[in-house]
Amino acid sequence: MRLAGKKAIVTGAGGALGATIARTLAREGCDVAGLDIAPDGLAATADAVRALGREALEVKADITGFDATQTAVGEVIAAWGGVDILVNNAGGGMVRWFHEMSAEDWRRMTDVNLTSVFNVTRAVVPSMLERGGGRIVNISSIAAVRGGRLVRGATAYAAAKAGVIGLTKALAIELAEKGITVNCIAPGAQHTPGRDRDTPEQRERLLAQIPTRTLGRPEDLAESIVFFCLPSADYLTGVILPQDGGHSI
Ligand SMILES: NC(=O)c1ccc[n+]([C@@H]2O[C@H](COP(=O)([O-])OP(=O)(O)OC[C@H]3O[C@@H](n4cnc5c(N)ncnc54)[C@H](O)[C@@H]3O)[C@@H](O)[C@H]2O)c1
Repeated sequence: MRLAGKKAIVTGAGGALGATIARTLAREGCDVAGLDIAPDGLAATADAVRALGREALEVKADITGFDATQTAVGEVIAAWGGVDILVNNAGGGMVRWFHEMSAEDWRRMTDVNLTSVFNVTRAVVPSMLERGGGRIVNISSIAAVRGGRLVRGATAYAAAKAGVIGLTKALAIELAEKGITVNCIAPGAQHTPGRDRDTPEQRERLLAQIPTRTLGRPEDLAESIVFFCLPSADYLTGVILPQDGGHSI
């Protein structure tokens, strides 16, 4: 247990990657507070964390709202007295041709993928400053690095995820002297359950673009998050890790 006793918030904890991240942190000794808009997956993740002998908090919240997020994070801080680790994982894509996109489509993608990261991080950082340290890991996407090569029609998603990279770097500098590191993973295509709906032709087309010819394993991505949270990663901040089988090269 390399992170024994640490308190972690994972956003989107009910989703495919979020559930794996929460379980992996729990296995390393963290208590985990999941924040998610959808209660079912959140409850399943909390059960999994408790089954590993750790404490779990289930906080249902729409993190696109500033005030709602302050309240949600406030519940966690009230229960635990503070937070050591924040994983900004919640997000989601939308496939829409740019010339057909509405202002609402744009707002939705930037709210879910970028403003949510601001909202949660803004709510958590004061408590990390009080504690004198912390770890923040943001989940961006290969879409930010490679544009829409993986999925056409992803302009708003790619722009928002690129914003996450900019925010990571600027905040890393701002917090560097405060003992808080801010890093980011830009995942390529992960082997989540949704991928199993790909047709064989879609899968072949996808793998043809990836140098390793494989999908990413969510467990491996979660291990990278653990790595960023270890004491040995004290000197790593502002790093953008493309975990993508070489796709971004
Ligand atoms: N799966 C992949 O291949 C892949 C690749 C690159 C990047 N990513 C990124 O990784 C993250 C997780 O992806 P995933 O595949 O697990 O997706 P997912 O859809 O399975 O999970 C996303 C979770 O975020 C939650 N969420 C969405 N909007 C929310 C809101 N407003 N408030 C609170 N919670 C909200 C959802 O309810 C869901 O549980 C996302 O940011 C995604 O963009 C995924």
